[in-house]
Amino acid sequence: MRTPVVLVTGANGEIGQALIERLSDAGDIGVLAFDLNPLPDALAARCVATITGDILDERLLQRMVSEYAVQQVFHLAALLSTRAEYTPDAAHRVNVGGTLRLLALAAEQARRDAHAVRFIFPSSIAIYGLPDVATKAAAGRVAEGDYNAPTTMYGCNKLYCEHLGRYYMRHFGQLNARFEPSGVDFRALRFPGLISAVTVPSGGTSDFVPEMLHAAAAGSPYACFVPEEARLPFMAMPDAVDALLGLAAAPREALSQHVYNVGSFSESAASFRERVLRAFPDAEVTYAVDRARTGIVDTWPADVDDSPARRDWGWDPRYGVESAFSDYLLPQLRTA
Ligand code: SER
Repeated sequence: MRTPVVLVTGANGEIGQALIERLSDAGDIGVLAFDLNPLPDALAARCVATITGDILDERLLQRMVSEYAVQQVFHLAALLSTRAEYTPDAAHRVNVGGTLRLLALAAEQARRDAHAVRFIFPSSIAIYGLPDVATKAAAGRVAEGDYNAPTTMYGCNKLYCEHLGRYYMRHFGQLNARFEPSGVDFRALRFPGLISAVTVPSGGTSDFVPEMLHAAAAGSPYACFVPEEARLPFMAMPDAVDALLGLAAAPREALSQHVYNVGSFSESAASFRERVLRAFPDAEVTYAVDRARTGIVDTWPADVDDSPARRDWGWDPRYGVESAFSDYLLPQLRTA
């Protein structure tokens, strides 16, 4: 008998760490964590098993499925947007090749165990590509089908993988003599920038907000790499985990789309800076604008229209910007 598990790839990343805590607290099914780097001991202790290695390592994947029946997948492993611009081949290999391999693995598992495998995929506001800041300002809250013309390798990777997931769910094997759906139940979320009280992201382009906040809490100076008027949507990490779990739990028939925007709040860099300075009055936050990274931020929407997620599966974030700071970020940062 293979042990039934929920597979979390990118388990050691920001989202992975927060998600594993919640999945193991819920205790419905054991967590199998997969990451390039070993998990901290406390987190590993919450998992049925941990696998350290590359998601494209065929030997590791074969060993994994010989021992575990993967019933659900949270495929979080990816290189973020800034890092991907420096290593586009590696980003494509991991972000696209890794997702394709995991989708195939989910289809194999569904066939083997004769039940659907839910495949939850975090996509991103990076899949949007607004042509200029005037269009960005005029567009306001963008809907899923708007401006799907990303300008980064990461954005292209994520947008393509949304389509790969839809393809695997609906059309994979369509020319077989007897066509049967693959059994992959694919669901994607487009996250805004995420802010955790515990971890700091690495290699992203929305990192200026979490970096600014964590630097201030640690008493270190910070130079923000986008100008004060740069604006993006953001979300507190507990809401991001709620979104993943909420979408994963939704009945299939409730879902009218394969990909959903999820939003919480949208602020400019200047307004985040003011909030950080109110909380940490001695903090030193300056600007050292990186034109190229700002250029990427300028192509991402100022806010998202997440009404389909609210309608179809009850998305309703716990935190607005005020409460994210007062009830989640600052209490945890001050006691850290
Ligand atoms: N936050 C991510 C990044 O900046 C986008 O999904 O790369």
